[in-house]
Amino acid sequence: MSALFDLTGQVALVTGASRGLGLGMAQGLAEAGATVILNGRDPATLAEAARPLGADIEAFDVTDTEAMRAGIANIRARHGRLDILIANAGTHGAMPLADWTPENWQRVMDTNLTACFFAAQAAAAAMIEQKHGRIIFMGSLTGLRGRPTIHGYAASKSGLGAIARTLANELGEHNITVNTIAGGYFETELSKALRQNADLVARINARIPLHRWGTPRDVAGVAVFLASAAGGYVTGQEICVDGGIGSAL
Ligand SMILES: NC(=O)c1ccc[n+]([C@@H]2O[C@H](COP(=O)([O-])OP(=O)(O)OC[C@H]3O[C@@H](n4cnc5c(N)ncnc54)[C@H](OP(=O)(O)O)[C@@H]3O)[C@@H](O)[C@H]2O)c1
Repeated sequence: MSALFDLTGQVALVTGASRGLGLGMAQGLAEAGATVILNGRDPATLAEAARPLGADIEAFDVTDTEAMRAGIANIRARHGRLDILIANAGTHGAMPLADWTPENWQRVMDTNLTACFFAAQAAAAAMIEQKHGRIIFMGSLTGLRGRPTIHGYAASKSGLGAIARTLANELGEHNITVNTIAGGYFETELSKALRQNADLVARINARIPLHRWGTPRDVAGVAVFLASAAGGYVTGQEICVDGGIGSAL
């Protein structure tokens, strides 16, 4: 393996890694040699996902800030350090404008935005001590481009880019990079309802220059790049992994 991408000896936490994009990125980091810790809410599901990767697990709900802080402290106690955080756990929300309530707006914000900020805060404390760290937020193209009905989701993902730029400016002096991956359309549980509409899938495929939805594997390489020496001079960026749809007219 090229030394540029070698993560041997590095400890990585991926939130929301029991399936989907989180699990895909965790697999990529494990293949690059990192010690990977999978997070999700259900320990049994996590244990099953972790086995083929030889990964560790730490179950907590990312919206429970105290549980999340305790989980990160446990990881530091078990592994001695935390080099890489991928704040990926996320939820969806799509409804007509008139149907949004403060409660369902808050549910999306709590998981997609607030939890990522406090995970970064806890991880940064370890990284500052180590004088090394990589923080990666799992954002979305919808944070950069408009689409109807996903008001809260789009706002939360747009906020991640802003937090990443703020932290990149603040944490650079500690050799910590902070970036956002802006995902396009991926085949996961989260997009299952959308993918049941065959006409919509066909229309989306026609607009994607690579003419297909992404898979969890498609995001793994970008995560490894940002976490590794190869991405060491990249910070404050929002990198689109979207088959090109974000650049199409
Ligand atoms: N799929 C797409 O097209 C797409 C596009 C752009 C961006 N994204 C973003 O990519 C991220 C992953 O999405 P995905 O498509 O892989 O979704 P997914 O298949 O639904 O997976 C979501 C993961 O997050 C975990 N999770 C959810 N809420 C959690 C919480 N409160 N605490 C801890 N873990 C939690 C889930 O585990 P448990 O339920 O077991 O806890 C699961 O592992 C999300 O942030 C999403 O917004 C997805």
